[in-house]
Amino acid sequence: MRIVVLVSGTGSNLQAVLDAVAEGTLDVDIAAVGADRPGTLGVQRAAEAGYPTFVVNFRDYAVRSEWNAALTEKVASYSPDIVLSSGFMRIVDEHFINTFEGRYLNTHPALLPSFPGAHGVRDALAYGVKVTGCTVHIADAGVDTGPILAQAAVEVLEDDTEESLHERIKVQERRLLIETLDRISTRGLPAL
Ligand code: GRF
Repeated sequence: MRIVVLVSGTGSNLQAVLDAVAEGTLDVDIAAVGADRPGTLGVQRAAEAGYPTFVVNFRDYAVRSEWNAALTEKVASYSPDIVLSSGFMRIVDEHFINTFEGRYLNTHPALLPSFPGAHGVRDALAYGVKVTGCTVHIADAGVDTGPILAQAAVEVLEDDTEESLHERIKVQERRLLIETLDRISTRGLPAL
């Protein structure tokens, strides 16, 4: 199973996938890792592990649709079976979604459909929920919407900050991501 991973930031979830592949606990072929901006630690981690990397810089395009088209073309050039958004903080358009329909996965640090968007951890904490978690799902054209593949719950502690809660969520997120990729690589995507 060929995967292209998209990142915008530190890529600690990506690192867990890279480690699982290196250790032989996850049997997938990482075709490339790409970002929407230069200088991400995520791309650096992938390059250090010896994988092809690319940047389709959002700021290089005057029109959003042109960036989307360039990103779609770049990702497609690696012929992925699965495209994984792992902390990729950009909304992609219908052209991208249609090109990778049913094969674009996202991981989100909340129990969707609760708390979608860029601040899922902060929003859950502000609401005062006692349990939150993470979700791996097939992404559609909405913001953190689409069929859910797996979820894990994380208890919110009384003295949690956004950072401490996000760190505990990420521990579960990494496990869930690797389990989900493993399941897809051995059994395929579930029929929807
Ligand atoms: C993850 O919690 C992801 O779900 C969210 O941002 C975080 C990315 O962290 N969208 P990292 O870049 O993998 O460290």
